[in-house]
Amino acid sequence: MLKDRVALITGAATGIGESIARLFAQQGAQVHLLDRDVEGCRAVAASITTAGGTAFASGGDVRLAADINPWVESAIARSGRVDILVNNAGIYPRQEFLGMTEAQWDEMQQINVKSMFHTLQAVLPHMQAAGSGKVVNISSVTFHLGMGLMSHYIASKGAVIGLTRSLAREMGPHNIYMNCITPGAIKTESEAKFVTDEQAEVMMASQSLHRRIMPLDVARVCLFLSSTLSDGMTGQVLNVDGGWVMY
Ligand SMILES: NC(=O)c1ccc[n+]([C@@H]2O[C@H](COP(=O)([O-])OP(=O)(O)OC[C@H]3O[C@@H](n4cnc5c(N)ncnc54)[C@H](O)[C@@H]3O)[C@@H](O)[C@H]2O)c1
Repeated sequence: MLKDRVALITGAATGIGESIARLFAQQGAQVHLLDRDVEGCRAVAASITTAGGTAFASGGDVRLAADINPWVESAIARSGRVDILVNNAGIYPRQEFLGMTEAQWDEMQQINVKSMFHTLQAVLPHMQAAGSGKVVNISSVTFHLGMGLMSHYIASKGAVIGLTRSLAREMGPHNIYMNCITPGAIKTESEAKFVTDEQAEVMMASQSLHRRIMPLDVARVCLFLSSTLSDGMTGQVLNVDGGWVMY
């Protein structure tokens, strides 16, 4: 479905980003991965290459243009262009609002949303020059639900939806698609640090589908939004949450 497409994916060393990288490579894309966990990122790229795919790993912090810009330039030098950008890297520590420090608030905004300023400023000029492109931004269904201890997180994920909608308007005339996924409770190693098995059971009971939603479930929708199958859609927000939220 993505034969010879060139895809850039942030936060690809583990979890949802890793799953997107593996699925895109299976579908024929050349994938360029960036993560601050450079060893994990290299391991994912090596395993994709061993399986017959094409993957390149870079270490870097999505908060820094100085890390993002060389990554984008190296992808273009190696693969000739960028067709797809998936802004996935993110963090989700819990924190009560009144105990939150300014540094905790800022770190959340910088990693979860300011990062997209850097990646989009680097990638969009190339997509404009090519006259096409697909961008998928990862937000969270918590924006729709509202949840305690996540004010800094949900503020950042709401900003991702706003960014997606505004840029869909600006970039549509250039044939560049901007869509957003709002994952629900996805079973990843990072999620397990913050959500107990009992809490996961409660969330699962709120879903229409009574099973854990997996990184691959999100990756499949990301594939749809990155392929020609979604050519009639831009500026949209898709819940991948097992039917938890229905708006
Ligand atoms: N797992 C869930 O339940 C869930 C639900 C809704 C939304 N999301 C969102 O999906 C995305 C992926 O979540 P996940 O569960 O796979 O998390 P994860 O922790 O498994 O993966 C996130 C990756 O991002 C990387 N990363 C974090 N900060 C970075 C930085 N500053 N620079 C470069 N890389 C950085 C991490 O090293 C990690 O490899 C996040 O944006 C998260 O907010 C996850």
